[in-house]
Amino acid sequence: MKIMSGNSNLPLARAIAAYLEIPLTDASVRRFADEEIFVEIHENVRGEDVFLVQPTGYPANDNLMELLICIDACKRASAKRITAVVPYFGYARQDRKPGPRTPISAKLVANLITEAGADRVLAVDLHAGQIQGFFDIPTDNLYAAPVMAADIQARYGERDLMVVSPDVGGVVRARALAKRLDNAPLAIVDKRRDRPGESEVMNIIGEVAGRHCILIDDIVDSGGTLCNAADALLENGAKSVAAYITHGVLSGGAVARIDGSKLEELVISDSIQLTEAALASNRIRALTIAPLVGEAIRRIADESSVSSLFD
Ligand code: R5P
Repeated sequence: MKIMSGNSNLPLARAIAAYLEIPLTDASVRRFADEEIFVEIHENVRGEDVFLVQPTGYPANDNLMELLICIDACKRASAKRITAVVPYFGYARQDRKPGPRTPISAKLVANLITEAGADRVLAVDLHAGQIQGFFDIPTDNLYAAPVMAADIQARYGERDLMVVSPDVGGVVRARALAKRLDNAPLAIVDKRRDRPGESEVMNIIGEVAGRHCILIDDIVDSGGTLCNAADALLENGAKSVAAYITHGVLSGGAVARIDGSKLEELVISDSIQLTEAALASNRIRALTIAPLVGEAIRRIADESSVSSLFD
């Protein structure tokens, strides 16, 4: 087996390789003067089972292109099987047409990865489970929930917890985490905008007064969803609010927004490499998913069960 990485998240790729006790494949992914990407694999991968670690976070298009070109390099070097390990699958939020004459970019990206020559995909907390069906190659969707649940138990286990989905779309994810936390109660933030131009009203479904709330979501991007949900929960009597989010996209002024928010802390995974600002924040903490992804890779290579990781 070979573990190869693009430039998107080298610390995670190194940690996965360390978990598997194998060195990262010697390869360089460079830019020409005009920013074209050039990949060179410096060791033999002929006949190898290659796992290519490359989440497609910021800069999304560059990282996606690196992934496609790395796959092509592996294919042309006669790798036996290529698995695109994409812990954060960018473009996933574009999984349907939000209006007429708009693209379904998640499907296009799935097609690109397949056409480039990937034989399998390994992702973590896809924005919507059905994105698996966008690929006509085997696709494993791992869940960060076990890693998060263990951390929540260790850090907040003594408190009177309530798991909260910050929107109606995230209820299934939140319920799955609540189940892992000894069936903790569940609440939902229901955002409503009655008329265009009017500000959003946040209705809380569930009795959060006196509870320590744990917000669960797949993505924190601008941080707006989280910070507004935290305000609404506290206004409704919650004692404290912390957030556990798999993918720290954290665009623009998100870190400053989180730092200035009423969140006790924001816990993210390292599916996307943390920026300097995120690392410097004393409100943001990262949990590594390297052992989870590493174990899934080991099981794919051994042809043993991946789903049993989540039993
Ligand atoms: C939306 O469906 C996602 O699950 C997240 O809630 C959303 O992407 C968060 O975005 P932001 O942090 O910009 O509010």
